[in-house]
Amino acid sequence: MQEIKKVVLAYSGGVDTSVCIPYLKNEYGISEVVTFVADLGQGEDLEFIRQKALNSGASQSLIGNLVNNFVENYAFPAIRSNALYSEKYPLSTALARPLIAENLVNIARKMNADAVAHGCTGKGNDQVRFDLAINALGPDLKIITPAREWNMSREEAILYGENFGIPAPVSKKSPYSIDVNLLGRSIEAGILENPMEEPPEEIFTMTSSIENTPDSPDDVEIIFKNGFPIAIGNEFLNPIDLIKKVNHLAGAHGFGRIDMIEDRVVGIKSREIYESPGLLLLIKAHKELESITLNPDVIDFKGVVEKKWAQLVYQGFWFSPLKKGLDAFISSTQTSVNGKVKIRLHKGNAIVIGRSSEKNSLYREDLATYSKDDLFNHEKAEGFIYMWGMSNKIWAELNSKNK
Ligand code: ARG
Repeated sequence: MQEIKKVVLAYSGGVDTSVCIPYLKNEYGISEVVTFVADLGQGEDLEFIRQKALNSGASQSLIGNLVNNFVENYAFPAIRSNALYSEKYPLSTALARPLIAENLVNIARKMNADAVAHGCTGKGNDQVRFDLAINALGPDLKIITPAREWNMSREEAILYGENFGIPAPVSKKSPYSIDVNLLGRSIEAGILENPMEEPPEEIFTMTSSIENTPDSPDDVEIIFKNGFPIAIGNEFLNPIDLIKKVNHLAGAHGFGRIDMIEDRVVGIKSREIYESPGLLLLIKAHKELESITLNPDVIDFKGVVEKKWAQLVYQGFWFSPLKKGLDAFISSTQTSVNGKVKIRLHKGNAIVIGRSSEKNSLYREDLATYSKDDLFNHEKAEGFIYMWGMSNKIWAELNSKNK
């Protein structure tokens, strides 16, 4: 096997990725472990995490501010795609992985590293997303995945780390496995592994419990241009501030929690809790605006594309020819998705109460109206129905004869 001198490790500051540092140095004999922490708007003290990597033996420790890239090139396309895996999960974690992978590959190239590494285990989706994205962008790069091979329990991993000066986690660690970024939080493990157990209130931070939400509703107007959200009410916002604002508005009313059984890529069903108030609300509003601005056959076919798009992203195929093709289709539909949607937030609900598009509305009140009738020719309906129901009528006649 070719000797590996330098590796770039995706680093989060947790036990597993910290232990990866001495593991890579000792078990693989790699002299330089460069760590990379991605800032995805998770709101952690990244400088502290960066320092922790150095204290754990990293030769260099990098932070990448990816928030803007994440929102503009990952979250916004997901909104245009109304992307929900299994019709529920807006992919807040899944969307982050290809972006982190892309950065790992770029850093590896820049620093002349021979490999990249991550701390994902063999049971989850994240390993699949990292590996597939790395393979797509740097097919020649070796991927090292210590947590898939070391067979250590959490306690053993902590002990292993302690031998190399990595302090055990100070606080009694939460029993949950949590992934956070600006788009949402994924919460697994602990008592949540029993799918009949109600999620305890303490696991939520972005959404209020219904008891604590305001008694009076808030109506929000979300304005879209070319399928991208650009303003809330009369306030035009940059993409990051817009997501923050919608997270806050929807979260305060307890909207955006998901409790689901999910089919992982690796064949395991798992119980997942998510909170993703902003992204869910924006998808809801966007889909509503499409109902007034897109033709029915486009809406119908786009639904098929959306489902496949969400599956591809969930399953790790962000960088793939099919995803690229679907993106092109989706983009081509979005030039007419301009206008606004009015939503009432109240007690965990987000209820659409209005939609309009000044330039692109296909809704014609003069046609739809039941009041005055000067445009529509009722008589023509008869001929249309004559042919529309022809094959069904032939079937019915035959059936009644054969009785
Ligand atoms: N099951 C979710 C997904 O596949 C969440 C994964 C959470 N990841 C984590 N490292 N805790 O997107």
